[in-house]
Amino acid sequence: MEYETLTVTTVTPQIGGEVSGIDLTGPLSDAQVADLHRALDDRLVLFFRDQPLDHAAHIRFAKLFGGIHIAPSTAPWQAPGHPEVTIIHADADSTFVAGEDWHSDMSCDPEPPLGSILYLHTVPPTGGDTVFSNMYSAYDTLSDRMKAHLEGLTAMHDSVVGFGGITPEGMKLPRNSHPVVRVHPSTGRKALYVNRGFTTYIEGIPRKESDALLAYLFDHVQQPAFQCRFSWKPHSIAFWDNRCAQHSAIWDYFPQTRSGFRVQVTGDTPR
Ligand code: SIN
Repeated sequence: MEYETLTVTTVTPQIGGEVSGIDLTGPLSDAQVADLHRALDDRLVLFFRDQPLDHAAHIRFAKLFGGIHIAPSTAPWQAPGHPEVTIIHADADSTFVAGEDWHSDMSCDPEPPLGSILYLHTVPPTGGDTVFSNMYSAYDTLSDRMKAHLEGLTAMHDSVVGFGGITPEGMKLPRNSHPVVRVHPSTGRKALYVNRGFTTYIEGIPRKESDALLAYLFDHVQQPAFQCRFSWKPHSIAFWDNRCAQHSAIWDYFPQTRSGFRVQVTGDTPR
């Protein structure tokens, strides 16, 4: 795809574009923003290098794509004075990291975030990559029989799976039902929308059948052929579309430190 204002280098045929020729620390023109929207629709996740964002620039960039999604479950990790910003941090004292299981961010919310913009300022000497997978491809490669079976089904997404036990006692954790296959509002394409990080069961079918079907689908979405893998450097950014991509943060760098901030863009009710 050709762009007027920037260059996008394909990471793998399925997913990922590394964007160059743009400075996200300053204001962007309408033409640049239009190109970024097109690039995100085309590549599902965009990567940027050497973008030392402060919180104001991070939030300003996110607002070019919608409002700011503030997820109730992530309240314990809000940056001081900036409820829009979530701290993503792991070091020698960590007992867990955010997002190790394959997931689409906050699919437990009634209107899950359209996208997430993760900025890391500190990265381990090696490791700490994030892997992304294309959920259009996950859907497209199902058999016609499986597609017909999934049509019209809904599944429960529960934040107790990802956040139970690590959020303060008594904190209300959202759970919401969404279609198993959703239609991307911008591209019109169908994407598989169940994930190991939040989805607990498919509604309206026996629980054993749901467990077996989800086990198959969770395995299916992880196929290496749908993926790309991002190697972080200090001041890199990944901006992914939660409506059509899943991701997994690899925690292979303990006891090293990996640290940064994430801002999420508001989305709509999955349909
Ligand atoms: C997340 O799931 O939002 C965190 C991803 C990462 O740390 O790479």
